[in-house]
Amino acid sequence: MSYKLPGKKSRGLLNRGLPHLRNGLWYQGASQKSSGRGFQAPAQMIVGRAEGDYVWDMDDNRFIDFQSGWATNPLGNCHPEIIEAVHAAHRQYGFQWEHPLRIPLAEKLAELMPARALPRFTFEVSGTEAVESAIHLALCHTRRRYIISFTSCFHGEGLGTKMVSAYNSNNNLYMEGWAGGVLKAPYPYSENIPAGMNQQQYEEYCLWFLETHIPDYVVPAENVAAILIEPGLAEGGNWIPGTAFLQGIRRICDRFDWLMIADEVLTGLGRTGRMWSVEHYDVVPDILVAGKNLSGGIEPCAGVAARDEILGDNPRATAGSTFAGTPAGCAAAMKTLEIYERDGIVENAAALGELAAQRMSDWGSRYDIVGQVRTLGLLMGVSFRAPEGVAEDFYVSRSVRDEMLQRGVWAICDNEAQVRMYPALNMDREVLLRGLDLMEEAIDEVQRKGITVGDYPAMPSGNVGF
Ligand SMILES: Cc1ncc(COP(=O)(O)O)c(C=O)c1O
Repeated sequence: MSYKLPGKKSRGLLNRGLPHLRNGLWYQGASQKSSGRGFQAPAQMIVGRAEGDYVWDMDDNRFIDFQSGWATNPLGNCHPEIIEAVHAAHRQYGFQWEHPLRIPLAEKLAELMPARALPRFTFEVSGTEAVESAIHLALCHTRRRYIISFTSCFHGEGLGTKMVSAYNSNNNLYMEGWAGGVLKAPYPYSENIPAGMNQQQYEEYCLWFLETHIPDYVVPAENVAAILIEPGLAEGGNWIPGTAFLQGIRRICDRFDWLMIADEVLTGLGRTGRMWSVEHYDVVPDILVAGKNLSGGIEPCAGVAARDEILGDNPRATAGSTFAGTPAGCAAAMKTLEIYERDGIVENAAALGELAAQRMSDWGSRYDIVGQVRTLGLLMGVSFRAPEGVAEDFYVSRSVRDEMLQRGVWAICDNEAQVRMYPALNMDREVLLRGLDLMEEAIDEVQRKGITVGDYPAMPSGNVGF
């Protein structure tokens, strides 16, 4: 089976969007250029409907969903109980700021936070807003100027979150002046490590950079407010840090009295097989940012949890836009957490993660084009490398992702030379394995066929055509 993508209806709609949507003209130009040279345009589709483990495009082609609304549908697509809870909240409150649901939800979240050490919560609409709110909170609480973030990290698309993100040097072009309070440190990658270091040496170097390089040569320690880290770096390449690194960060924060902010927007609420990714590392941050899964895949809900004294009484750190913590968003989150408990969702994610890791464990040795398989629970990525002189790594990954899509499996390949997969935490076991079988077929095909430099236009970040 191989879908020809985009299908007729998806293509028609994409064409309608070309003159109106961001990057529409770019996509048109790039597609024309590649087809003019006899190459295939990137496979693309638009979702016509979604249910459980699957999505269907406008042309009714069915796909196993490893994309999950960009890791945002923890219980599969359109979970009926969450939809019902959201409808009930809409019927009862419509939109009100002063509704009662924030309080029981904040109580529940306090119970779930690592070591129950972060009892206060402030609501925001999106992960972007929540990270910005956490940064503001850290600066106001410590009365210091600097935030340390990491290479390849992604924290959102607001002005502040763009400044702390660093997955691409072009990202902050023309905005350099706004990033005066941001220091970027190296993230401990496990591939393409510089200067012939092994992974452990590189992690030690990354910690040295934080503990010695910054305070001794960049800014005084007493002017750094916080280290902001993704404990499992997702958008920028599915990098899974070692225990020594996360524990090292906690130790350095304690030593210099810096706050540790864990951005768990993507890794949180079961994605990695623990409720919070920091729990794998036995580390408790001072501030934790949550989003994505909290929506149950239905209605946005995000926010910031913090230690009592940080979020308890700080009039300078204002937060919360009009739609932060809507009745429907809170209802979605409460129902989601109820189902997590009732159905053992986090344990299930851990078991599925193990199954998937086993299924992919020999890909690195069997396929030359596979770099590393990197997983933590259902935070899953496979990096690819091009055979010598044939094409750039990124295009190999893009080809694998496209071959997957044509076989009916929807995964992500955007900025990095890898394919990322975020299946629902309750995905049917057989569907997960079937998706991985088809992924292996796709890898096999790309390895056999090869690709040529320039086959594919590079993509802007995000969803092409939108
Ligand atoms: C780690 C992380 N932080 C923050 C965000 C931004 O969240 P949102 O897109 O909901 O604004 C994302 C989004 O992908 C993310 O992965």
